[in-house]
Amino acid sequence: MSKAKVLVIGGGGREHAIIDALSRSSKVSKIYCAPGNAGIAGQAKCVPLDDVQIEELADFAEKNKIALTVVGPEVSLAAGLTDEFVSRGLRVFGPSRAAARIESSKDFAKSIMSKYGIPTAGYKTFSDYDEALAYVREGSFPVVLKYDGLAAGKGVVIPENFEDASKTLGDMLLDDKFGHGKVVVEDYLTGPEFSFMCFVDGSRVWPLPLAQDHKRAFDGDEGPNTGGMGAYSPLPPFTASGDEFVTAADEAYALEHIMKPVAAGMVAEGIPFKGLLYGGLMKTPDGIKVIEFNCRFGDPETEVVLPRLDSDIYDIFSAVADGTEMPEIEWSSDAVLGFVMASKGYPVSYKKGFEIKGLDSALSDPDVRIYHMGTSFKSLRSDGISSEALVTAGGRVLMVVARGKDLAGARDKALGAVGKIECGNLFFRSDIGHWVL
Ligand code: AMP
Ligand code: GLY
Repeated sequence: MSKAKVLVIGGGGREHAIIDALSRSSKVSKIYCAPGNAGIAGQAKCVPLDDVQIEELADFAEKNKIALTVVGPEVSLAAGLTDEFVSRGLRVFGPSRAAARIESSKDFAKSIMSKYGIPTAGYKTFSDYDEALAYVREGSFPVVLKYDGLAAGKGVVIPENFEDASKTLGDMLLDDKFGHGKVVVEDYLTGPEFSFMCFVDGSRVWPLPLAQDHKRAFDGDEGPNTGGMGAYSPLPPFTASGDEFVTAADEAYALEHIMKPVAAGMVAEGIPFKGLLYGGLMKTPDGIKVIEFNCRFGDPETEVVLPRLDSDIYDIFSAVADGTEMPEIEWSSDAVLGFVMASKGYPVSYKKGFEIKGLDSALSDPDVRIYHMGTSFKSLRSDGISSEALVTAGGRVLMVVARGKDLAGARDKALGAVGKIECGNLFFRSDIGHWVL
């Protein structure tokens, strides 16, 4: 069998980790990434196409005889990338536009959950401002307000009182600040959150190890919500203080009562899901419930889960894309923990273009990987000599991950590597894993 050329769509840490896994495959000859970033350029050939230039991406795949395209971002899937590729006979890993609605419409996701008995927060959906306001006035606080459509992680607001809720409802339903769409009003749940990703092909479901993200910007879970400031995998059954955390029984429950039934429900609806289904789950006092589904790999969870994959990821992607037999999927028992280094001011406002140094030194530990989330090269000239400098190019810039025999060992190695990275404009959360370490 000739080796495959693979195209990865996207340009962040998640795509870098997917490319890192693909580069360990014996079946892959060459990896392209559109658009990629400065770090990805070390492991793949970057293609200057955006993640929603669907026609151009399909043209590229045809012209370059790409054997498989792997889609990172939800925007590409919601824009119908898979449908276009499949219509041209191109192999792709990622769900159709219709199946991607499990993420791109919160109301759709909630209706699937209620129809198929999947545990989640109680809710009601509104398109009328006055009706939503009347419902919220009668309810309790905090209340969870979710814009129905994709909102780049900003579409969930949790007001503490009626005044703030009415302002948010105005933003969402009168001023269309997130776009023109409905609002899901949801009951507020409490408990630890964790991420359950599964490879899904119709009703066939293969779990990945659990991971936990850290969404708030600052230590102690303070500050604004971000895209995620760090993650680790696996999840131990007990917290640092000895309380029960996420157990093997919880994982089995989530697989049997959440991930498998939602996959089967999508098949029953005539919109089978093929790709990576992400369950954002919460262990509430009333059991495990769904906070959200995503139609793609989580970021930054992927950066700590895929380094634990001992099987060939190309074979896994192929089995899902082709609907063929899945090989045994093996995972390392090692722990992986990672810190996101973000631009100062993220997620509110930040500057770009700051030089980053020290990566080689940080990478001198073979257990350390650095996934680039937002970097680029800048041409420098000094004393008549031109050179290229690595610079910051986004809110989240780097994810520094390390593996160890246990989470504490992985954390210490990752922190050591973070300390070697020099840049005048980065910050990170130092307490990743605080629930359990
Ligand atoms: P999302 O953008 O859907 O990931 O939601 C952002 C965050 O809002 C989640 O990670 C939760 O921390 C929080 N959240 C969403 N829904 C609820 C809920 N029903 N109860 C409590 N917190 C929630
Ligand atoms: N880590 C959350 C997400 O990928 O949406």
